Amino acid sequence: DQVAQYDEQGYLVFPDLFSSEEVDVLRSEVDRISKVNSPMVVREGKDSAVKIMFRLHEADGDTASPAFGAACRTSRVLRIAQQCLHDDEIYMHHCKVNMKAAIEGSAWPWHQDFHSWHLDGITKPNMTTMTVMLTEASEFNGCMYVLPSSHKVGRTDPRWDDSTAYKLWAARPHDMKRFMGHFPKPVAIAGGPGTAAIFHCNLLHASGHNLSPDDRWQVFFSFNQCKNRPTEVENPRPDYV
Ligand code: SIN
Ligand code: MN
Repeated sequence: DQVAQYDEQGYLVFPDLFSSEEVDVLRSEVDRISKVNSPMVVREGKDSAVKIMFRLHEADGDTASPAFGAACRTSRVLRIAQQCLHDDEIYMHHCKVNMKAAIEGSAWPWHQDFHSWHLDGITKPNMTTMTVMLTEASEFNGCMYVLPSSHKVGRTDPRWDDSTAYKLWAARPHDMKRFMGHFPKPVAIAGGPGTAAIFHCNLLHASGHNLSPDDRWQVFFSFNQCKNRPTEVENPRPDYV
């Protein structure tokens, strides 16, 4: 079944999880919030195009969006996340929209999401992220790639990548070459608006520059088990990342 496939490959794709009417509402919210000035809105390039907007799911704050708050609480999203985490007691840890602007929108290097969350005090890699396409995602406009089954390697020792406006812990090139020789070929997570995919927090993933004349917008809802809530650490990152 699909849960067994998730456990084995580290991801699942759901075409048309959201309807075009629902996506339209979310897109108008992306338009609105992208004009907000806030530390939760990260910009890049000469035109200051938005790269990332964080924390749209909460009821308060600069980037609060009732529509995104509702979208991440739909039973279809929660049910899939609960099943993939093998736990009914989950909470939403993090939410962001990546707006990869036409021509300007930059790449994301190969990385595992869990490394940063672990540094924030989360003990176990029992987290998962559902992403929903708000525009078409294609190889031309910088869709995500996943390395199937790579979540099984556990946490790899990363390097600090400061090549884009959003600095993050990325996989080392030497490790990636080795992993790509070992695991099945990377899979492009492409599809029309409303397509969703869920992926394990240790699954290696990346995406390229947007070379197309159209923006690539995608929302990410990250879930954690309640029993795996962050413990106290010194200097955690802001809670919205
Ligand atoms: C991410 O890995 O967090 C973002 C990838 C993407 O937007 O393509
Ligand atoms: Mn990621």
